[in-house]
Amino acid sequence: MSIKLAERLERLPPYLFARIDAARAAAQARGLDTVSMGIGDPDRDPPQWIRELLCEEVMRSGNHRYPSYKGHPRLHEAALRYVERSFGVGGPAGPALGLPNVMTTIGSKEGIANLVTVLVNPGDLIVMPDPMYPVFGTMGKLFGAEVAALPVHPSTGFMPHPGELLSSEQAARARVLFINYPHNPTGQLASQEYLQELVDWARAHDCIIVSDMAYGEIFFDPARKPTSVLACDGALDCAIELHSFSKSFNMTGWRVGFAVGNEALIGGLHRVKSNIDSGCFDAIQLAMARALDDPRCDPFLDENRAHYKARLDKVCSALDSMGVKYHRPGASIFIWCELPGNAPLLDSEAAAALAAAGGPSADAHGAPLHDSFAWCAGLLDSTGLVVGPGAGYGKWGEGFFRLSLSTPDEDIDRAIEKLRGFVAG
Ligand SMILES: Cc1ncc(COP(=O)(O)O)c(C=O)c1O
Repeated sequence: MSIKLAERLERLPPYLFARIDAARAAAQARGLDTVSMGIGDPDRDPPQWIRELLCEEVMRSGNHRYPSYKGHPRLHEAALRYVERSFGVGGPAGPALGLPNVMTTIGSKEGIANLVTVLVNPGDLIVMPDPMYPVFGTMGKLFGAEVAALPVHPSTGFMPHPGELLSSEQAARARVLFINYPHNPTGQLASQEYLQELVDWARAHDCIIVSDMAYGEIFFDPARKPTSVLACDGALDCAIELHSFSKSFNMTGWRVGFAVGNEALIGGLHRVKSNIDSGCFDAIQLAMARALDDPRCDPFLDENRAHYKARLDKVCSALDSMGVKYHRPGASIFIWCELPGNAPLLDSEAAAALAAAGGPSADAHGAPLHDSFAWCAGLLDSTGLVVGPGAGYGKWGEGFFRLSLSTPDEDIDRAIEKLRGFVAG
């Protein structure tokens, strides 16, 4: 018998990071000494005191049954206090947020995927950053949506304006606008004025904003903190924001975060999730509720930021010494680098196809585009170093590569030497 999978799966490409993992495994099998700065998965553990809170909650009787579909109210109360304290959202002067405006997610990847189910009809237009965290685009395509890309690129100052870049016909059809600041893969931040412009644009076009704040706690200059879209006037009419504990607390394996925003959007997410999953383990939710309110929480977040900042400074000075250009991130755990001048050029057929698909026709300096997949494959083949090829994150990622700072320090040292040798040719 032949196994027939749903036709919609043909629209779902293999996941980028699964391809990166497979390429690394193949290189290892060939005997190469591999090291990865490819994937954004913190190498350090969550702080011991949070793990101890989890142990206590795991040992507590009553925490082991099906959790509530919406999530634990104690986490929701703590999350509302946290967004007010950390992002100025809510409070007496802010939008009126209460328990109906928040629910637990099994990390933001799940939230993004289920919000596409909540919001998108086949043929709808979804507007999203390009380059981007691949899940926005692939989930949109799975549900038969059309995608319009907003280039988060040096040519748009990393803050593309939908009012300028979309035709009036596209703007009228836009159903959902995905935003992700701090932005993966570029690490760039948005200004509050820019976010306000997006909210005004979305409200004028009856478009929903889904804001992914997965990197909201990892920033490098306290004077330029990431800002929440929910702090903008009118945002609660049209927006939902996804917060994740994965990167901020080094707990990608715990699978916990929360969605906060417009009550009807939270209601839609609740409806879909209650039919799909059975929530996040209560012990994890209760440990995180206690962690957010704990006096050790903010000092830990400061320490974690300082740790990434030290790595960022080290890698940036190595890139400077190699002559590799990069766009210094304001936040996130990534550095967005330009391919070096000796990288292979994109062949003319691929370059024409990229431009025809609405991508760039030249690099950030107006010169012919270099081929990120070919260069990253060459880097892996000859040195064993894994980095993220820019084009894997979208059309506007061509010509770039991404370095992740979630790599142990000793591996970063080896990675830098491998990169230095390859760049020098
Ligand atoms: C922009 C962005 N959003 C969401 C996620 C997923 O995070 P979570 O672990 O909360 O599902 C990632 C993970 O890399 C990401 O880069």
